[in-house]
Amino acid sequence: MYNNKNIIVTGASRGVGFEIARHFIRHGANVVGLSRGSGNIRDNNYKHYSVDLGDPDSIVSCFKNHINKDFKRIDILINNAAVMTSQFSMIMPIKNVVDMLNVNLLGVFMVSRETAKLMRGKEPSRIINIGSMASCIEPIGDSIYAATKSGITTLANVMAKEFSTLNITCNTLAITAIETDMLKSHSANAQVKIKEIINNLPIPRISKIDDILNVIDFFSSDRSSYITAQTIYLGGIN
Ligand SMILES: NC(=O)c1ccc[n+]([C@@H]2O[C@H](COP(=O)([O-])OP(=O)(O)OC[C@H]3O[C@@H](n4cnc5c(N)ncnc54)[C@H](OP(=O)(O)O)[C@@H]3O)[C@@H](O)[C@H]2O)c1
Repeated sequence: MYNNKNIIVTGASRGVGFEIARHFIRHGANVVGLSRGSGNIRDNNYKHYSVDLGDPDSIVSCFKNHINKDFKRIDILINNAAVMTSQFSMIMPIKNVVDMLNVNLLGVFMVSRETAKLMRGKEPSRIINIGSMASCIEPIGDSIYAATKSGITTLANVMAKEFSTLNITCNTLAITAIETDMLKSHSANAQVKIKEIINNLPIPRISKIDDILNVIDFFSSDRSSYITAQTIYLGGIN
């Protein structure tokens, strides 16, 4: 399905990004994974670069020194990496705010911009952002995280217009909770609140990886060239 496609997945070292990267490799793609640490996928069609996505200079030099040299073209970008260091607004340390803004919003902007430069050409290209139910549900204690997730939807919608003549579509997949390190990092109180949110969804369960891969395949398809600036929420949220 993805033979000869070159695909970047941010946050590919674990969690959702790890599974997305493995899915693309299983289906014939060459995958570039990005995260701060080293990669956990051993495959001839996988390359991993260590980069701090919260640091724009580090992103630019990763492209300049590695990705631009190794790949003439990128077909698909999955902006998956994010951090969630949420707290109630009144007590949230500024460092937590800055970390989320830098990785979840500025990082997505920078990686999208640098990748789009490698997407020029006739072939269809795709930018897919991983969003969150948080931007729709707007949970107490999640102000900055939810705002960054709304921000990347807006980013995708504007880039969809800017890049449409380059045959690049930009869409967002907003997922519900899924069992990863990020979900485990919530406090016991927050876990109870998340369960309550999930129980009130039209489809009251957390995401499975296949729910995510299904929409990724849909947005990535060559047949989806007329689908851009769209956000799909899992679980029936709207
Ligand atoms: N899990 C959930 O319940 C849930 C719910 C809704 C939405 N989401 C969204 O789904 C996506 C994936 O989340 P996840 O649960 O898989 O998260 P995760 O398990 O915490 O993994 C996050 C990934 O991002 C990378 N990363 C974090 N900070 C980075 C930085 N500064 N520079 C480079 N890489 C960085 C991590 O690698 P390193 O630490 O090695 O850098 C890791 O590979 C995120 O966009 C998240 O907002 C998750």
